[in-house]
Amino acid sequence: MRYRAPKGVHDIFSPDIHIWQRIELSAQELFKVYGYTEIRTPIIEYTEVFTRSIGEDTDIVEKEMYTFYDKAGRSISLRPEGTASVVRCYVEHSLYTLPSPQKFFYMGPMFRYERPQKGRFRQFYQIGVEAFGESHPAIDAEIISMLYNFLKKINLNDVNFELNSIGCQKCRTIYRETLLSSFMKNLDNFCPDCQRRYHLNPLRILDCKVDRCIEARQEAPSIIDFLCEDCKKHHEEVIERLSYLQIPYVINPNLVRGLDYYTKTVFEATTSNLGAQRAVAAGGRYDRLVEEFGGPPTPAIGFAIGMERLITLLKEVLDITINLPDLYIATIGEKSEKEGFQLAEILREKGLRVEIHYGGGSLRSQLRRADRLGARFVLILGEDELKTGMIKWKDLNKKQQGEIEYGNLPLILNLIKEG
Ligand code: HAM
Repeated sequence: MRYRAPKGVHDIFSPDIHIWQRIELSAQELFKVYGYTEIRTPIIEYTEVFTRSIGEDTDIVEKEMYTFYDKAGRSISLRPEGTASVVRCYVEHSLYTLPSPQKFFYMGPMFRYERPQKGRFRQFYQIGVEAFGESHPAIDAEIISMLYNFLKKINLNDVNFELNSIGCQKCRTIYRETLLSSFMKNLDNFCPDCQRRYHLNPLRILDCKVDRCIEARQEAPSIIDFLCEDCKKHHEEVIERLSYLQIPYVINPNLVRGLDYYTKTVFEATTSNLGAQRAVAAGGRYDRLVEEFGGPPTPAIGFAIGMERLITLLKEVLDITINLPDLYIATIGEKSEKEGFQLAEILREKGLRVEIHYGGGSLRSQLRRADRLGARFVLILGEDELKTGMIKWKDLNKKQQGEIEYGNLPLILNLIKEG
């Protein structure tokens, strides 16, 4: 019986894993400079952590959560995103008592039961950041700038920044009413999903990608015109700071995001190179969530990057460097195999990646194997060579060969490193 991984999930191994590791390292280095420390929350949470924060009427909660009952009958869900868990952790451990702002980053798998397609999986990885305790619009610009710098650092230049403000509860209530009466006029022209959203979550209609909905909502009012004084000022200041940092962006009044916890600033980093799944990263402010989870009123903002989408884009522009063996030790005879076995350990201790052939085989087949593994260098240990103290070496890249004194480790090391 040959098994397959479940639909919509995937294995990650060499050579792709090298890009994954490089990205993760770049993120860690950059986020550290901005004051973020790693946070690791569980993959599972009580389901309510997600339903309360992401929202009962969102696609994620309605259709996409992996939810089950544990043996004690409690409803548990695999995390569909990271923000809710980080907020739960922040409140549970009273991290708000620490000096503000508290900044965290995380990396790991998320789970959504979506229809798999290019850039959309059921298990996917996010790198996310969350900053708590700063209400000033400058941190909105700072966090967008950090994302911008990160994408630049990993050489992903073809990305657009889309920005919007969805206001606070006060401005959104008035906007929602106006939106409802605007859509009411031609509700039949919208797709069945949007007709349902009309009653549950009308702002989401703005984000629908179906052609007839794009057409039908052309006359819809823009949320920007409904922002209260405070939200408007906040939005303008974010824009001013972004311009100050020379970060290119466009205002997209239809950007509303698919999670309910957002307030004021929302943003996405998008690309046209990913088909229908345009967002490489997305985030925004969520000033009410800590309080809803039982903590004190605490402003917060964050974003998450979709790793698979990032990797797909990067593969188009990157040469993947694979960790190939520095040295392959070919041996002839039992005695020299034992010698080689020991030599391999000594050279690995010096930081070389060494492969060795165990248990017989012709020299020819060993050399072929060294070549297929991509080894740069081969040392050949035969019984005769060991007796004379001079062993053969081959540089497979430069197609050169020679002899070297077997007992002289510094010389051997030098030869391989210089090669
Ligand atoms: P999100 O927009 O749901 O936001 O996801 C963020 C990113 O994760 C997306 O832009 C996309 O790149 C990636 N992503 C989402 N779903 C999938 C999928 N099924 N397959 C592959 N990639 C996917 C959040 O998750 C928020 N927690 C972001 C945030 C952090 N907001 C504030 N802080």
